Amino acid sequence: MEDKLILEINEKTPIVDLVSEFVSLAKKGKNYMGLCPFHQEKTPSFSVSPEKNIAKCMSCGEGGSPINFYRKIKNISFEEAASILAERAGIEIKTEKVKKDPNTLYYQLMNEVAAFYQFNLKNSEKGQEALKYLYQRQMTDELINHFKLGYAPTHGNTLYQVLKDKKYSVSDMILLGVVKQSDDGSYYDLFSDRIIFPITNPKGEVVGLSGRTMNPKDLVKYVNSPETVIFKKGYLLYHLNEALSDIRMSKQVVLYEGFFDVISSYAAGVKNGVATMGTALTVNQAKLIKSITQSVVVAYDGDSAGLKAIDHAIPVLEKEQLKVEVLTIPEKMDPDDFVKAYGPEKFEMLFGEYTKDAYAFRYDYYKQSKNLQDANDMKAFRRQVMMMLQTSDASVKGYYLQKLAQDLNIPIETLSPRKIENFKEPVIPKIDKPRMLDKYAKAERYLIFAMLRSKKVAEKVIIKLKQTDFAEPLTANIRLNIETYYEEHTELVLEDFLDQLTGEQRTYVETQLLTDMFWVKKLEVSDAEVESYITQIKEANLKRRYEYLKEKIENEENVSSILINERDQIIVQLKHKN
Ligand code: CTP
Ligand code: MN
Repeated sequence: MEDKLILEINEKTPIVDLVSEFVSLAKKGKNYMGLCPFHQEKTPSFSVSPEKNIAKCMSCGEGGSPINFYRKIKNISFEEAASILAERAGIEIKTEKVKKDPNTLYYQLMNEVAAFYQFNLKNSEKGQEALKYLYQRQMTDELINHFKLGYAPTHGNTLYQVLKDKKYSVSDMILLGVVKQSDDGSYYDLFSDRIIFPITNPKGEVVGLSGRTMNPKDLVKYVNSPETVIFKKGYLLYHLNEALSDIRMSKQVVLYEGFFDVISSYAAGVKNGVATMGTALTVNQAKLIKSITQSVVVAYDGDSAGLKAIDHAIPVLEKEQLKVEVLTIPEKMDPDDFVKAYGPEKFEMLFGEYTKDAYAFRYDYYKQSKNLQDANDMKAFRRQVMMMLQTSDASVKGYYLQKLAQDLNIPIETLSPRKIENFKEPVIPKIDKPRMLDKYAKAERYLIFAMLRSKKVAEKVIIKLKQTDFAEPLTANIRLNIETYYEEHTELVLEDFLDQLTGEQRTYVETQLLTDMFWVKKLEVSDAEVESYITQIKEANLKRRYEYLKEKIENEENVSSILINERDQIIVQLKHKN
């Protein structure tokens, strides 16, 4: 962007008005003063000068020209800040110079969706029931507004109709996962009779949604938007954008597991909370945190799954050089339960009394499950502690080696720090009993192997086979995850990839796929084999579709002739193949 243009944008943006959107200001002589939005303070040191048209904190030094101030407070790039402020000031920027986000239309659509559900929560009869549910869970109107909660009406296509009236294209609705097409060709909404949580990207655009059932008997607690061009769970944290200024001010973020934890925490006054949404923390989420702050408190559920997840998250966060503390919630509760049971003051107190540094947490966590009189437990404990110390600095190593020697009742010399370097966890591949797979399941599995190994193969498969062509839902999901992964990477690093999966997917890959003899023995998949698997999967699909049509045609009256035609064509195709 040209200097002249930047000057003009800054000149035409009155700093006092701009800052007032974020800070309440009081006039002091020629200037205005307010509480600094970039650090925590009790007396105002954020000074805004209308004369110089700049803002600056006398205490921490943050601030700057209108564009700089805006860029920092909104956590966006200089170009983005400049173009937004230019538009506000009525200055035209030649569009080819500004990179416009190609997904703008998708954000608009998703914002529309969130707004529709929000409206529905407050303005429909069934919405009233949903409101009642939220009030029962101690939500206030203020919280409902801050988190933009909504309600999706029961079975139907209300959302589809609303979006259609607003001239959005059906293919975009489907691409973004909010509308689906049924087998008879009609359209219906993905979310039905659920409380809606809109999920934003770090810039604050709605990119996905999650819907919670209100019926405790429902087998599916949350329905989520599928992964889409703009919704990539492993790259997002719930409430990150909304918490930006609280994170910045407290110089720390609190990482939770779920929506309700973030909300209860917010209600209790801890507003710098974000959440992974039911999946293991990824490298990219750690990077996202690091881009805003240096320090994180992990506050996962206090049950055994939660503790295990903390143990997994710590090295991911530490790899980004974040300072990590762990808050273990007492009595195996989750943070939401705790706030409900003990109140907000007690919850805030937890942060002082129950946080440990990451090493103390892991040491205690490893120790607590062991019987240190048992030789196997002793060995396992020693290995875990040595592993944890591999990348730590000398003082931490010294401290914990001493502790370990004491706990194991052995001389510390036997635990020489030099030995840590050579310490590697023995790899004992767990091999499941081979399960007989039919030829199609095998084709799907081997294709996945080939895709994990090569981007080129993956791209070929992605073009030829849709997500829905895979019969096994887990393989279908993994196919999509591979697609997403290769959009950002030229090569697949297995550990990194596994981090992107949900727990269930990860378990499936680890226990079913990676133990398959085919993978263990690193057998090759030739191009010809890839082709043949693709053909087999297509054929299996045709057969499934045929069975579906056959049953429909046999059992229903007035079946459309289109479907009968389709069945007959499939018969021809299948005959042709055999
Ligand atoms: N989650 C999900 N799908 C599920 C269960 C959970 O996507 N079937 C995600 C949600 O983002 C959820 C988080 O994992 O917020 C944590 O799960 P859980 O602790 O079960 O949910 P809570 O947020 O605690 O919800 P609630 O208090 O209503 O049980
Ligand atoms: Mn929970």
